[in-house]
Amino acid sequence: MSDIAILEVDGKKYEFPIIRGTEGEVAIDLKTLRGVTGGVITLDPGFKNTGSCVSAITFLDGEKGILRYRGYGLEDLATNSNFLEVTYLTIFGELPTKKEFKRFEETIKSNSMVNEEMKDIIDGFPKNAHPMGILSSLTSALTAFDPKSVNVEDEEEMFQAICKTMSKIPVLAAWAHKKNLGHPMNYSNNNLSYIENVLEMLFKIPTESYKLSPKVVNALDQLLILHIDHEQNCSTSTVRIVGSAHAGLFASIAAGVSALWGPLHGGANQAVIEMLKDIQKDGGDVEKYILKAKDKNDPFRLMGFGHRVYKNFDPRAKIIKKAADEVLEDLGIDDPILDIAKRLEETALKDAYFVKRKLYPNVDFYSGIIYRALGIPTKMFTVMFAIGRLPGWIAQWREMRLNKEPIGRPRQLYIGENQRSFVAMSER
Ligand code: SDX
Repeated sequence: MSDIAILEVDGKKYEFPIIRGTEGEVAIDLKTLRGVTGGVITLDPGFKNTGSCVSAITFLDGEKGILRYRGYGLEDLATNSNFLEVTYLTIFGELPTKKEFKRFEETIKSNSMVNEEMKDIIDGFPKNAHPMGILSSLTSALTAFDPKSVNVEDEEEMFQAICKTMSKIPVLAAWAHKKNLGHPMNYSNNNLSYIENVLEMLFKIPTESYKLSPKVVNALDQLLILHIDHEQNCSTSTVRIVGSAHAGLFASIAAGVSALWGPLHGGANQAVIEMLKDIQKDGGDVEKYILKAKDKNDPFRLMGFGHRVYKNFDPRAKIIKKAADEVLEDLGIDDPILDIAKRLEETALKDAYFVKRKLYPNVDFYSGIIYRALGIPTKMFTVMFAIGRLPGWIAQWREMRLNKEPIGRPRQLYIGENQRSFVAMSER
């Protein structure tokens, strides 16, 4: 096995080192390409074949449908751990001792107050503003209330910044939801666990006490574990590249929230339910929508299907599909949307178009079914994804800064006009 790759350009050969990952992945190190070739670059729109970094956080194998956080299998973690413990693992690299977890949880709780002036910002939004837009703005606004940039080399400073972020973002997410409802905002309740607190902030109203259901808490906890990280997806790459300019953690995460909002990315969980509702309104004719998805003249895509990396089942989709059945049964809910989703999946997975292109259900295909069952409105689905992905964004931002990665600045291939001179208006 050679550790050299040879590239020939215009008759001249160049050698580049091959780097191998701990799971046997192979990369050609092209750091010197432009310099040694006098300006040759690679071109790879969407970075489908380009590694932007080395990372020790998440390993996924799209062909085999494998997903691990810090070496631990996703199903193992979803079955045996909890969201906050997997958050600690993802960010710091090891499962916490009892003492470490207690300090992490307590430090998060001690940072759970959000400056009251944040409400002045929320008041400026129209009532029906999409909660992802509110969350991105409020996340960025956190910098205004806490402008001191964190010294990433100082472990304690970084720990405090991480706990502050984990603590305040869910409060802002719940406030965005309450803005849409026209309800008063809830504060964090430090007597509750992390996920219990998220649910209470979302659902508690001043006129009644909010009764937490252990089944709902467990279902949301497991669902958010599945969302924690996913290597260099669109929003995580955004957080890394914004952070590479040494923008702060809040500012970098605000950019990640905006990227996640896109319907081709995290916004797909909302788009899936809207699609399933359309199919339901249209008499449940899944075949009609499969044909639309295959029609190149129709911009319609089967939301929740396909993935840049998974060319097999998204392992998260498998776990979520099973959890959706369990949650609906546990809560005694019969949701016709789930039946439509299952028929759509069965039909697509037998169709040559989807089989040939290896298009399988992804993490977003079934997650909305569970959010609906938990009483979370469709507009909030991507906000829930953001709460789930927050630990991954933090972990990747921290790794990028600790690895002292250079500012992200891709090159381009210019295909515009050659040099030309200005022409006076009178002569045009
Ligand atoms: C997430 O990257 C991550 O890790 C993301 C994520 C995470 O955890 O961070 O996993 C979360 O974003 C999941 C994906 C959610 N998005 C959707 O469900 C939206 C629907 N899916 C597609 O838009 C699409 O599959 C993408 C965006 C997810 C992936 O697109 P790619 O990799 O750029 O693939 P492509 O667009 O080049 O498609 C290849 C072919 C094309 O057909 P041909 O040109 O070869 O004939 O497959 C077709 C596409 O038209 N295709 C679809 C399709 N997805 C791809 N056709 C119909 N319906 C679809 N959903």
